[in-house]
Amino acid sequence: MKEVEYQEHFFPGTRQELLNKVKQSVKEKRYQHILGVEQTAVKLAEINQFDLEKASVAGLVHDYAKERTAAEFKVAIKQHQLDPDLLNWGNFIWHGVVGAEIIRDELRITDEEILNAVRRHTVGAVEMTTLDKLIYVADFVEPSRDFPDVEFARSLAYADLDQAVRFETKHTLQYLLNANQTVYPRAIDTYNQWVVKK
Ligand SMILES: [Fe+2]
Ligand SMILES: [Fe+2]
Repeated sequence: MKEVEYQEHFFPGTRQELLNKVKQSVKEKRYQHILGVEQTAVKLAEINQFDLEKASVAGLVHDYAKERTAAEFKVAIKQHQLDPDLLNWGNFIWHGVVGAEIIRDELRITDEEILNAVRRHTVGAVEMTTLDKLIYVADFVEPSRDFPDVEFARSLAYADLDQAVRFETKHTLQYLLNANQTVYPRAIDTYNQWVVKK
């Protein structure tokens, strides 16, 4: 894979230093997933003329907080005075929205566009920046992902990023409904914006 050399625009250190910190924060399987997301986000950034270093940093940190305990997330929600409704949700939502604060504190990454891409990577958003889309889609189609439509989703990702956002949003909602799982309200907002025909 092509390795992006950091100019320290977004993380105060080298890519290798960031890799070390990420590796310490998650188990091996998730670390491999994270490397796949970074690789995919960088490829998609090239296709969409986006900053490769920014895509790389966002890809590497998107699941940085995924393995923190519920207790740690609850402390961070209170400490950062985030919406108290977050306390009613779980890891699926916390690792993005609350994870962004943990990333800022521990990795000293302050770029709001990167932090927003982390916040939005699980359920998307009505308004998504190019970086939001790169991370949302890369998370869905990175090489270790395996589900029946993954090849189709991958080809869509490289052909048309917006279409890939649409496909992923519908696919994820369908999955949650089929599994009788709770749907976070913002996931419905994303669906209404991106999938519903107007
Ligand atoms: Fe995630
Ligand atoms: Fe992920």
